Amino acid sequence: MSFPVTRMRRLRKTPTIRNVLRDVKISVDDLIYPLFVIHGENTKNPVPSMPEVYQFSIDNLLLEVEKVVKSGLKSILLFGIPETKDALGSGAYVEDGIIQKAVFNVKKEFPDLLVITDVCLCEYTDHGHCGLIDNKQILNDPTLELLAKTAVSHAQAGADIVAPSDMMDGRIAAIRKALDNNGFEDILIMSYSAKYASAFYGPFRDAAGSAPQFGDRNTYQMDPGSSVKQAIMETALDIEEGADIVMVKPALAYMDIIKSICNEFLCPVASYNVSGEYAMVKAAAQKGWLNEKKVVMELMTGLKRAGSDLILTYHALDIANWLQEV
Ligand code: PBG
Repeated sequence: MSFPVTRMRRLRKTPTIRNVLRDVKISVDDLIYPLFVIHGENTKNPVPSMPEVYQFSIDNLLLEVEKVVKSGLKSILLFGIPETKDALGSGAYVEDGIIQKAVFNVKKEFPDLLVITDVCLCEYTDHGHCGLIDNKQILNDPTLELLAKTAVSHAQAGADIVAPSDMMDGRIAAIRKALDNNGFEDILIMSYSAKYASAFYGPFRDAAGSAPQFGDRNTYQMDPGSSVKQAIMETALDIEEGADIVMVKPALAYMDIIKSICNEFLCPVASYNVSGEYAMVKAAAQKGWLNEKKVVMELMTGLKRAGSDLILTYHALDIANWLQEV
């Protein structure tokens, strides 16, 4: 079993051999495209730190979703930017809130598209935290009821999957119970289960206007240096509480976590290729320092190889169009 009998280069001799032996493949079915929705009409605000990402008013969102559907993508994730914010994040759960209206309109026009909604308060609170606050503390238990209310309102608007991203303890159980009590036993929960307090969310907070107005998210999101055991425990708790799909976020600096979660659990695992990861690639590509298409496909291959069943990425529409080219 050694040279010259064994020659590994035989496995790479032609494009066809390489193609046949390639077992990590990217499919449009695995990609989830995040989109930002804002009040108003005929609005398409570019997000400066995320080239080619926009805040869409609902009319323009529908035009964008049409492109998404044509590209072959099957799922989107919606984030809302409310008109006004308050201490209780009430824009997150009002009946005519931005997300509720967006979901209703998207599902009306594109009933087969999988619509996932981010369930969190940070875009809707004036303090920018993911939970209620008292004396600069982020309260856990009183926040659960509002998250559950938000999730139910998304389901009522027609969401297929709700995705809680707040990292309060016990939120999956609270949301599952509220969904079930309201006749939404069939609505899935995709939990942001191993979500780290990452500096890679910076551009997202520009896009969603959700930066915390004091302090940081370190008391609820996971510490980047914490042990993989903590990620497993967070995920185990979410599955016990009723999560159907679990998630690791961010993706690129946490591929070991993705792999461990896939080895540990049987349920589908999503990874979130976040805003800062997107911005890095875009910035380098704009400077001509990287080949964008090749780099993005290599990153997606890495995330699949690590075990991701689903990938949330702002590159999704580009990838879907690239896959159609070949
Ligand atoms: C809301 C939320 C955030 C992201 C997804 N949902 C921001 C945060 O936790 O501060 C980040 C997504 C990204 O960076 O692309 N809690």
